Amino acid sequence: MTSVSLTETLPTRYYLDPAIWEIERHQIFAKTWVMIGLEHQLPRPGDYIAEQLAGWPVFVQRAEDGSLRAFHNMCPHRAGPIVYDTGGHQANLVCRYHGWAFDKEGMLINARDFGAEAPPGTCLTKLRAQTWRGFVFVCLDPSTPDLIEWLGGFIAECEQYPTDHYTFHSRTVRRMEMNWKVYNDNFVEGYHLPTVHPAMSREVEALQYRVEGKGDPKWNIHTAPRRDGISWSGVWGYFFPCFSFDIFPGGMAVERWLPVGKDQTDLIFEYFFADDADDVDTIVKSSEDVADEDVRVGEYVQKNLQAGLYRAGWLSPKYELALGEFHQLIRDAVDPYVDGAASPVTVR
Ligand code: FES
Ligand SMILES: [Fe+2]
Repeated sequence: MTSVSLTETLPTRYYLDPAIWEIERHQIFAKTWVMIGLEHQLPRPGDYIAEQLAGWPVFVQRAEDGSLRAFHNMCPHRAGPIVYDTGGHQANLVCRYHGWAFDKEGMLINARDFGAEAPPGTCLTKLRAQTWRGFVFVCLDPSTPDLIEWLGGFIAECEQYPTDHYTFHSRTVRRMEMNWKVYNDNFVEGYHLPTVHPAMSREVEALQYRVEGKGDPKWNIHTAPRRDGISWSGVWGYFFPCFSFDIFPGGMAVERWLPVGKDQTDLIFEYFFADDADDVDTIVKSSEDVADEDVRVGEYVQKNLQAGLYRAGWLSPKYELALGEFHQLIRDAVDPYVDGAASPVTVR
């Protein structure tokens, strides 16, 4: 075996330090487009979806003209919510706490029985909401390029997959006891397939699992050839920081891992199938089993990181190059702000 210089993994501190989590919230999750739902959840004006985006409660609502509007789910009076549930219908924008009412642009129109005029310009904090192939993304930063420009070459790469012809089938949600990067690290390498996913590895050629980027470290496409006669075709796509899809014959799953805090992450799967797809229940079961296996190993990794014995390890030059690119994106976003080098706060 030839000797190559090994690249170190991201040190443990990046997974545990509350200051680094706070930097990530502002320098990654506040500056990127993050998928928070699906357009089919918003068929009528007033329909909304609400989500915790790296600790920020946000919601997107269908407007009367068919467009989407998004706001922080926070009233400027005393931080009450505008919507309570993760999704539903609410015709107006009225705070659930004391009833202040806002117009469709989020401007205050009535401070109910307040006893004084509210300061002029009082409003909800508006966010950006844009869609791609039925996926609803939000962005907290007005200076980030529009979603389509942001996704760049990923869009052309995904053209070949007929994802917009599939119909929503079901959703699963898991609250994982791990930092979001532990799950992300696992997603962008196929090294663990034969050991963590024995059943899946009987269906795809796990040792030929390839993770390929096309020059943009924000995304990559994974393939594994299918063994004859088995239903998995094995195509996975990843887009930084936490969006991915899995394509299989007759359908797909959208998979995302939204951090809810430094040590907890929600793993959300949404399944879609063609009307004539076969073996739908078997495919969903296989995918859920794979997710359980990934969560099991990831939660153990998190425990070991928290135990304080591990500082950093080494990346496989054969299987973990995309993981190295992900770690570099994290370093680039975080390091200028570590230990008070600069203030990470960009969202008021
Ligand atoms: S917090 Fe919204 S009206 Fe009081
Ligand atoms: Fe896995």
